[in-house]
Amino acid sequence: MRALQAAAAVVAALAVVAAIVWAARAWNDSRVPARYDATALGPLDLGGGAPLHHHHGGPGGADGVSVAALRERGAPDVRFTLVAGHAKVRLPSGRSVDGLAFDGRIPGPELRVRQGDLVEVTLVNRDVREGVSIHWHGVDVPNGEDGVSGMTQDAVRVGGRFTYRFRAEDAGTYWYHSHQRSADEVRRGLFGSLVVTPRDLPPGLDLVVAAHSFGGRLALLPTGGRMHRRPAPGTPVRLRLLNADDHAHEFGLGGAPFRVVAIDGRELEAPAVVRAQTLAVPAGGRYDVAFTMPRSPVTLAARGTGDRISLGRGEAAVDFSRQLDLTRYRAHAPPVPTRFDRTFRLELGRKLGFFHGGVKLGRQWSINGKIHPHMPMLMVAEGETDRIVFVNRSGSPHPMHLHGHHMLVLAHDGRPVRTPWLVDSLDVGPGERWDVAFRTDNTGIWMLHCHNLPHAARGLVTHLAYEGVHTPYRMGSASGNEPE
Ligand code: C2O
Ligand code: CU
Repeated sequence: MRALQAAAAVVAALAVVAAIVWAARAWNDSRVPARYDATALGPLDLGGGAPLHHHHGGPGGADGVSVAALRERGAPDVRFTLVAGHAKVRLPSGRSVDGLAFDGRIPGPELRVRQGDLVEVTLVNRDVREGVSIHWHGVDVPNGEDGVSGMTQDAVRVGGRFTYRFRAEDAGTYWYHSHQRSADEVRRGLFGSLVVTPRDLPPGLDLVVAAHSFGGRLALLPTGGRMHRRPAPGTPVRLRLLNADDHAHEFGLGGAPFRVVAIDGRELEAPAVVRAQTLAVPAGGRYDVAFTMPRSPVTLAARGTGDRISLGRGEAAVDFSRQLDLTRYRAHAPPVPTRFDRTFRLELGRKLGFFHGGVKLGRQWSINGKIHPHMPMLMVAEGETDRIVFVNRSGSPHPMHLHGHHMLVLAHDGRPVRTPWLVDSLDVGPGERWDVAFRTDNTGIWMLHCHNLPHAARGLVTHLAYEGVHTPYRMGSASGNEPE
């Protein structure tokens, strides 16, 4: 009996020690310096490829190239100014909220440019004390134009400005949003759409419809509520579905068969006709659908909101019973790479840890068992064809977004997809595995993160870093830069 009691006491004492050791290590793991180089903390992942040189910024790291030098030069064809500030915005529900807005509107102004244009946008911060930046989501801009505070620029403070330039090379649907405190600033309204139209834009009706939640209520913007249009029968219609929210949303189109003509700003070639199936658009993603206006009405809806976009007289019923499985969608397949210079395996997990500089304890998202800022950084060189294998063991979906590149979706759960398609935002569901390929043709240091932005703020962020590139910008509380 005595012996048993003694043993129990020893076990209890060991458990306490183990808990203390765990807490100390977890706290230490998640400590974030007040000012740090985001490319300097984590281990380097070479993806099983050739060794590479990694340069840190600052003195002694001056060789190589700085992201600050990777800018677009040349005279703009088109210019915009976007003023970020507090705004009282009337929501579709009739409620008005204190939001953050570009030019006083949520979403901000829709920017329409023509393919090939050199676009210049000047961001002015009127009164956002936390600072702002603009990221061109889905546009593969030069790295120094990417708008990530603490990585490619300093956040723009009140009264300051920053001028972005990029060439609109690929026609398609994109969006822009603040990448300073993005989880908070995007939710409150600092986003808008960007449409790059082909030089010979076919006539017809061409609309962006953005999904975004305010206070947990999903709205279809820009108008919210019910929107009616009356295109004549026979009119070509293109609806550009943009998910500016933190979770996937399912759109349904009633009244007309349609084609998925583009995903994430990349056209599909000869896509098949879809009848009465819904489309699940990942957070951050854009799906363009096209059809010819019939004599009867057509209605666009999304699960979880009463908002509707109706074309023609009256409304059509929307059937939400079947979802399109993109892995089996038929279109002309692009060429698919079969050998890879590197393969990065990214296992998404979750664990308990400290965050916010070690002051909060809670659930954190991990990559290969590591939590931010100690995530493994993907190292690449120019001119490679590389592969990422996403494996999700976290129990939660993660819409993974890669900056500056498009990823070709190759396989789902080990099975090759019917028609590989290009994405910049890919939903990786719980238990799923996705294989994607990308070409390293845009040098710089690029974010790869979950676009459920609160997840990114809780650690689901890493970087793709090209050999020899360094950043002079810093993150951390003392830097004023907090990209997530
Ligand atoms: Cu749409 Cu890193 O963001
Ligand atoms: Cu996530």
